[in-house]
Amino acid sequence: MAEWEKQGTEVVFRSMTLGDIGTIVRIERESFTAPWSEEAFRTELTQNHFARYMVMERDGAILGYGGMWLIVDEAHVTNIAVREPYRGQGLGERLLREMMRTAVWFGAKRMTLEVRVTNDRAQSLYRKLGFYESGVRPNYYSDNQEDALIMWAELEPTDEEADAQAAGSPRRPKGGAS
Ligand SMILES: CC(C)(COP(=O)(O)OP(=O)(O)OC[C@H]1O[C@@H](n2cnc3c(N)ncnc32)[C@H](O)[C@@H]1OP(=O)(O)O)[C@@H](O)C(=O)NCCC(=O)NCCS
Repeated sequence: MAEWEKQGTEVVFRSMTLGDIGTIVRIERESFTAPWSEEAFRTELTQNHFARYMVMERDGAILGYGGMWLIVDEAHVTNIAVREPYRGQGLGERLLREMMRTAVWFGAKRMTLEVRVTNDRAQSLYRKLGFYESGVRPNYYSDNQEDALIMWAELEPTDEEADAQAAGSPRRPKGGAS
């Protein structure tokens, strides 16, 4: 059983707000060698109408976050991260599943992302949730010219979501609307 389940406290998902950005940028810096700036997140939340960002929190503390651009029926993941001490407990999987559910709710049929060819941990998570490789972007990352693996997943609505959409009252996502 994962640590957060033993503690018996709920993990909740909600939309990222401007007030979250300070914390998000701290997690970003502990997670990536080329982290996004505060300004980048601010622009995403206030000016990019395609963008949806969500945070995952427990007891009011942000444990992770993820973002995507929803363009027609495709969801492009821009970033996903779990705070360093909380990794390996199933939280990244929960977060990505919630992002996939949110994307389906917004009408996406496919989800794509880029991942460093050396990022085995993230690639394992993506493969576990149905992503497959579709190509390589050579020298994609500007900090070390590392190649990016392009991955895609087909998104399947759950029975509950398909029924709700057919009835014209889709289940509201818990997060993701900026
Ligand atoms: C990638 C990341 C979001 C995964 O979150 P996490 O909470 O650590 O992952 P989970 O505990 O939910 O694990 C889910 C799956 O990921 C894979 N995984 C997790 N830890 C792993 C490790 N140390 N080595 C290999 N695979 C691992 C496994 O497939 C695992 O499923 P399993 O437990 O059934 O084997 C997290 O590690 C992170 O924030 N990393 C830094 C930022 C990053 O690289 N983001 C992705 C950019 S593309």
